[in-house]
Amino acid sequence: MESKVENLSSRRTLSNGVGIPCVGFGTWQTPSGDVARDVVKKALEVGFRHIDTATAYGNEASVGEGLRLSGVKREDVFITTKQWTDIRGCAATVAAAEKAIQTLGVDYLDLYLVHWPAVAKLSADWAQMNADTWRGFEKLYKDGKVRAIGVSNFMPEHLEALKASAEVMPMVDQVEFHPGYMQRNVLDYCAANGIQVEAWSPLGSGRLLADPLVTKIGAAHGKSSAQTCVRYAIQHGIVPLPKSTHAERIAANAEVFDFALSDEEMSALDSMPETGYRV
Ligand code: A2P
Repeated sequence: MESKVENLSSRRTLSNGVGIPCVGFGTWQTPSGDVARDVVKKALEVGFRHIDTATAYGNEASVGEGLRLSGVKREDVFITTKQWTDIRGCAATVAAAEKAIQTLGVDYLDLYLVHWPAVAKLSADWAQMNADTWRGFEKLYKDGKVRAIGVSNFMPEHLEALKASAEVMPMVDQVEFHPGYMQRNVLDYCAANGIQVEAWSPLGSGRLLADPLVTKIGAAHGKSSAQTCVRYAIQHGIVPLPKSTHAERIAANAEVFDFALSDEEMSALDSMPETGYRV
């Protein structure tokens, strides 16, 4: 599906032909203001070319500022943001995306995601709600405001329901993924339907960093557990979005192209007991 993944600029190819840098820099829980601005600038300095934010993170303006301060050209950076759950339906979606574009201070988004699906537990008409929202995403895509459209936290049943009315299927599904939480059903569905998976919390939100198995496998390669988790996602063909507010960690999380996990190590991580963010 993709060309060789050998550095942070290497791209995987989405179903519409758009290239997505194989590792992104996450900004969840990164405070807006100086912190978000400076970490985005730092991430771009160490070579990240893909920044992931969301309207709900409240830091889009600072992310845009960091991008401009870095001096890296807009077209060389892949920018994703996400629409929060307070916005549903076609017209509201278009307006929300335009606002996010303005807040970021950019002319277009590379990727716009539905942050969470409407779900049966909360809304009897969840499928219709998702279909209506998705029409807004398709409009943004056709109008050239966003280069690619996708979803986040959609399970196969949500994607399958969307299929009934979608003209353009999501190019991406961003879900929680890390050793101890691989959601194989989502991976299998996405692989069968040409949807690129992205990993939020690729380090289990930090909770995997002291895990004995991850630490041991990393040590065998002279790597940290954080680097091991990032590499694990890459070798699964998934785009990880590690987050850090520390300059040295941001740099370290990028050093993941000079080693490879063996098949045995990948299997051991695949079959770890459930652990990490949710558990
Ligand atoms: P911090 O932002 O203080 O550096 P995830 O990407 O899975 O959500 O994990 C992010 C968490 O992991 C954050 O708490 C972050 O802390 C921490 N983290 C990120 N990179 C590293 C690293 N290289 N070493 C240790 N902790 C890290």
